[in-house]
Amino acid sequence: MMELKFDPRNYRIHTDKNKRLIRKSLEDCGAGRSILFDKDDCIIAGNGVYEQAKELGLPVRIIESDGTELIAIKRTDLSTEDSRRKALALADNYTTDTSIFDVEAILEDFSAGELDAWEFTIGDIDLPEIEIKADSSRAGSVQDKFIIPPFSILDSRQGRWQDRKKAWIDLGIKSEVGRGEELTFARSAQPPRVYEARNSLRDKLGYDPSWDELITYCKEHDILLMDGTSIFDPVLCELAYRWFNIYDGVILDPFAGGSVRGVVASKLLMQYYGIDLRKEQIEANYKNAEDILLSDEPKPYWVCDDSMNVKELFYKDKFDLLFTCPPYADLEVYSDDPRDLSNMEYREFLVNYRTIIQRSCDLLNENRFAVIVVGEVRGKDGTYYNFVQDTIEAFKDAGLHYYNEMILVTSIGSLALRVTKQFNNSRKIGKTHQNVLVFYKGDPKRIKDNFPELDFSDDALFENE
Ligand SMILES: C[S@@+](CC[C@H](N)C(=O)[O-])C[C@H]1O[C@@H](n2cnc3c(N)ncnc32)[C@H](O)[C@@H]1O
Repeated sequence: MMELKFDPRNYRIHTDKNKRLIRKSLEDCGAGRSILFDKDDCIIAGNGVYEQAKELGLPVRIIESDGTELIAIKRTDLSTEDSRRKALALADNYTTDTSIFDVEAILEDFSAGELDAWEFTIGDIDLPEIEIKADSSRAGSVQDKFIIPPFSILDSRQGRWQDRKKAWIDLGIKSEVGRGEELTFARSAQPPRVYEARNSLRDKLGYDPSWDELITYCKEHDILLMDGTSIFDPVLCELAYRWFNIYDGVILDPFAGGSVRGVVASKLLMQYYGIDLRKEQIEANYKNAEDILLSDEPKPYWVCDDSMNVKELFYKDKFDLLFTCPPYADLEVYSDDPRDLSNMEYREFLVNYRTIIQRSCDLLNENRFAVIVVGEVRGKDGTYYNFVQDTIEAFKDAGLHYYNEMILVTSIGSLALRVTKQFNNSRKIGKTHQNVLVFYKGDPKRIKDNFPELDFSDDALFENE
């Protein structure tokens, strides 16, 4: 059998399944379409087929061509109704579908303009959760290096993301669990149906219902409240820390909420400082951290206070990453505390929010990132406040550069059930994303000096994952 050279820049990654199917097709149906190689004997198309044909010991017949004619192969042993012919037609198409693009190699070799000319869109790039074998050289290297590919869409519905989230949660992370005596349910992170119920009740009562009134109303109307199992996404948190913090960097979180962001920091050996108004939340966070963390891991520090006081609280400290998830205006009301931003009218909210951002950014070292997770919120008239844009303005006014925007695609959950009525009634789309905004303090040209190349391929955090 003549020896051909495999393409060192093959843009297709042949998964184990793909290889298995090519082999089955060759064995069951015989050789199908021809492969293609150049005058240096290097394969242009058909690397996967050649590999399997070689293993099966199939002889290779060479037809020379300068590209001015189409080489058609007549399979003299197959009729149109032949079942092997049908199987070959299926296999020919499906084996192409079961291999995937090597995105990194393609992006290295082609400019955006060239890819556009081929109408090659990001949607065509498939990043499934393939088993990445140590010997499969470049296979899946973008996701190995960065855990999740650093694209502007972060798809938390993908299996790889979900597996990693489960691994984090299995460590024992509990969300808010900040339940006082009177609290049976978590105040934060309730599903949208509860906020809709809150809005209906508010319309009925003519004032904002208390948490107890809302619980009673939900129980009476069979609206299921979450018992506090929904948490800030630990994978998003991990990515923010690993991608945008320096090694060993100290994190500031002015709207701490649950324990996740503190616990994830500790597991990555980073020091975390969080502020939150709610005492019961902070007590629950400390308890959760104590249950999970090992003695040699840094302990997160939560302080119960108003973040307006962030500069007085941390006057001695400087931080390397600002990472937070603020109240989305009044979407979720966290407490009755008048200092709680979620209790304020949007105008007042914005004044306080901007001040907290300004003060927190002042505590950030030069040449460091700030990452904030936000989402658009509708006011009482049903239109957007423009909260995302207001957040961007707040950081820019605090002297930071607007650097990255990522869309976090979140699970559809019960939205599938609610969207029909909602869309028909008001043309409000079912929102299934949040905005992850990244800002930079300092000279963006110096990012390379401060943030080294990343490669988490040998990461041992979830060895048994
Ligand atoms: C978006 S929530 C965080 C909850 C989120 N689901 C999570 O677990 O990450 C925002 C937090 O900001 C806190 N908060 C609101 N106003 C505050 C203020 N002025 N100072 C400090 N914390 C405040 C609330 O108590 C709430 O826990």
